[in-house]
Amino acid sequence: MSRIQQHMRLGLFIQAAGHHASGWRYPGAQSGSENFNLIRRLTESAERACFDLVFFGDKLVTGPQEPPSMIVRFEPLTLLGALAMVTERIGLVATASTTYGEPFTIARQFGTLDHLSGGRAGWNVVTTGYDSAANFTLGNHPDHEQRYAVAEEFVDVVRGLWDSFEDDAYVRDAETGVYLDTAKMHRLDHQGRFFNIAGPLNLTRSPQGHPVLVQAGSSGPGMALASRIAEVVFTAQQDLHSAQQFYRDLKRQVVEHGRDPAHCLVMPGIMPIIGRTREEALAHFERLQQWNDLDAALALVSDRLGHDVRGLDLDRPLPDLTLPQNMRSRAQLLLDMSHKDGLTLRQVCHLAAGARGHRIVVGTAHQVADEMIAWFEGEAADGFNLMPAHFPEGLDAFVEGVLPILRRHGLFRECYTGHTLREHLGLPRPADFGL
Ligand SMILES: Cc1cc2nc3c(=O)[nH]c(=O)nc-3n(C[C@H](O)[C@H](O)[C@H](O)COP(=O)(O)O)c2cc1C
Repeated sequence: MSRIQQHMRLGLFIQAAGHHASGWRYPGAQSGSENFNLIRRLTESAERACFDLVFFGDKLVTGPQEPPSMIVRFEPLTLLGALAMVTERIGLVATASTTYGEPFTIARQFGTLDHLSGGRAGWNVVTTGYDSAANFTLGNHPDHEQRYAVAEEFVDVVRGLWDSFEDDAYVRDAETGVYLDTAKMHRLDHQGRFFNIAGPLNLTRSPQGHPVLVQAGSSGPGMALASRIAEVVFTAQQDLHSAQQFYRDLKRQVVEHGRDPAHCLVMPGIMPIIGRTREEALAHFERLQQWNDLDAALALVSDRLGHDVRGLDLDRPLPDLTLPQNMRSRAQLLLDMSHKDGLTLRQVCHLAAGARGHRIVVGTAHQVADEMIAWFEGEAADGFNLMPAHFPEGLDAFVEGVLPILRRHGLFRECYTGHTLREHLGLPRPADFGL
């Protein structure tokens, strides 16, 4: 089947105060990162609409510098455990850090979620750009290169632990009295640069074999990791050309690793602002943008760039700045907005405050659908991570307006045909190598 005949993949990125910094202020918006009923309703809406997955990001530090609506959040794995009990088909993906986590614990947690949900778990592997050392007795936040070196080994250990038991290790034969064929239980005995982990994991292979591996870093080392291990890649490109370039580069690297490029799906973030007319959508966007707090936006852009830009001329483009150790690709994206697209610091702040550097598409449902189709057919994306500006209306407008158009083009499913997240995404179940 050619790629064009395939469906777009769709994820709903849930941030319960909405993805626009001021989304919670929009008339009718409901918010609350600790409002389980709201999160449950949003997840159920996405499941009724047959999205592939819902996704919850994570951050391990907080403080007054965060947007007030994002200072607190639920621990995502615990949250997904609860959502697994009230949903049946939709994929459940959460972030967990390779810098501040332990491979044995993460293998257990995502393996357990895969069992509990009947094969719907996915792990968004992040190295954590933000210095979170103060909360982990770690000393210093490791630098970018070190974080990715750790991540490479970390993921291999987790995958090895997920294969602790061959699929048919548990015989449970009451006649013969053989409960477990211990020859099919394997120690990992990993001894590496960063980890010494014996195993086996105290969990059998989960329904998907391995939970789906997602990755969200776009720097050179980020792409190197993604091309080797990721089955889904979350990105934040702004324009068709740079998205096509990223897509081409990543898929080329995937092939160099001997992998099928169709098994590493690229899903950029998109914040649609939808109106019955383009004018109405623009007015809607203006209303959100007018609430932006310039001081808060300057602090956010300074944080993302790793340079204090608060003293700079707001009405000139950004100067040449060296890339920071953290959040490198997001910093590059903000610099590109200024250097390539000619945006002033004030305009960069406005956009960054809106969607934290993700792409915003303002227009009618048809215009939003056309943009998505152009990216999908132009080989810039295999699908999208939907980031509504506010909930629930931002999600409802997409489901009621844009999805029917995508379906008329045969680009999105009418109903689920599979049960596991791998089946939704068209990903194979990893072979059981019986290490
Ligand atoms: C859609 C998306 C979701 C992300 N979610 C998280 C997250 O939940 N936690 C986190 O620490 N970083 C998250 N990131 C950031 C990246 O994982 C990565 O840390 C950052 O882009 C810096 O890595 P890089 O230098 O390789 O680009 C996300 C990025 C994208 C595009």
